[in-house]
Amino acid sequence: MRLAGKSAIVTGAGRGIGEAVALRFAEEGASVACVDIDGDAAESTTRLIAQSSGTAVAIQADVATDDGNRKMVEQTVTSFGDLDVVHFNAAVQFLAVVENTPESEWDRMHATNLRGVYLGIRCALPHLRQKGGGSIIVTASVLGIVGDSALPAYGAMKGGLRALARAVATAHGPENIRCNTICPGDVDTPMGAEFFDHQPDPEAARREVTDRYPLRRFATPRDIANVALFLASDDATYLTGIDVVVDGGLLARVY
Ligand SMILES: NC(=O)c1ccc[n+]([C@@H]2O[C@H](COP(=O)([O-])OP(=O)(O)OC[C@H]3O[C@@H](n4cnc5c(N)ncnc54)[C@H](O)[C@@H]3O)[C@@H](O)[C@H]2O)c1
Repeated sequence: MRLAGKSAIVTGAGRGIGEAVALRFAEEGASVACVDIDGDAAESTTRLIAQSSGTAVAIQADVATDDGNRKMVEQTVTSFGDLDVVHFNAAVQFLAVVENTPESEWDRMHATNLRGVYLGIRCALPHLRQKGGGSIIVTASVLGIVGDSALPAYGAMKGGLRALARAVATAHGPENIRCNTICPGDVDTPMGAEFFDHQPDPEAARREVTDRYPLRRFATPRDIANVALFLASDDATYLTGIDVVVDGGLLARVY
């Protein structure tokens, strides 16, 4: 029970990586606020946790807005009494090269993927400080480190998250508040599938990309959740301001 007695927020907890993180945190004893813009999806994750005798609440909130972030933090503290861990994980993507990316899509992605995390961190900090410390985890991506022609805005926001996390780690280290990112490669989730579904031959594209991975497979959501658990737990008390690249060796490879 590596998170016994801890209270955690996970955004984008309705499916994919966020769902796996919420389940993993609850398995290890945390009380988990499952936050999603899709309230039914958040409820469904909460039900799964309850079926395994875990503790969770579902919070429908749009993390692109200040109101959504305030609601998420206030309802969590009202439900569980305090706050120890926040995993900023919700994001959206838009597949197009720079010249085909409309300003509206750039702004939509910025609002959810980068500005929303700043708003959420701002809401959470007073509660983490009050608790005497805590762990902030941000899901970035390998695309915040290397470029993908089809995801320029997405990559820009993920690179921005890495810089934001370092700034937060630097500012709030003296308060025992840690902040780190997780940078996954391809993960088997609905968002991950969207990219391949856009290709002329999705199965061939998936095989070709899988072959580039030294581990010859995509990550499962649980592969990522295990790393989030580590960063949230007291096993990582001296880790802050870093990117944990969870990519099956993808970025280790040039040829
Ligand atoms: N799947 C991958 O291959 C991959 C790779 C690298 C990084 N990531 C990152 O991992 C995180 C999770 O990705 P995923 O693949 O599980 O995505 P997903 O699309 O499968 O799930 C994302 C969840 O976030 C929720 N969400 C979206 N906008 C929201 C908002 N404004 N407010 C609240 N909730 C909102 C969605 O409803 C959904 O339940 C994202 O930050 C993504 O960028 C994913």
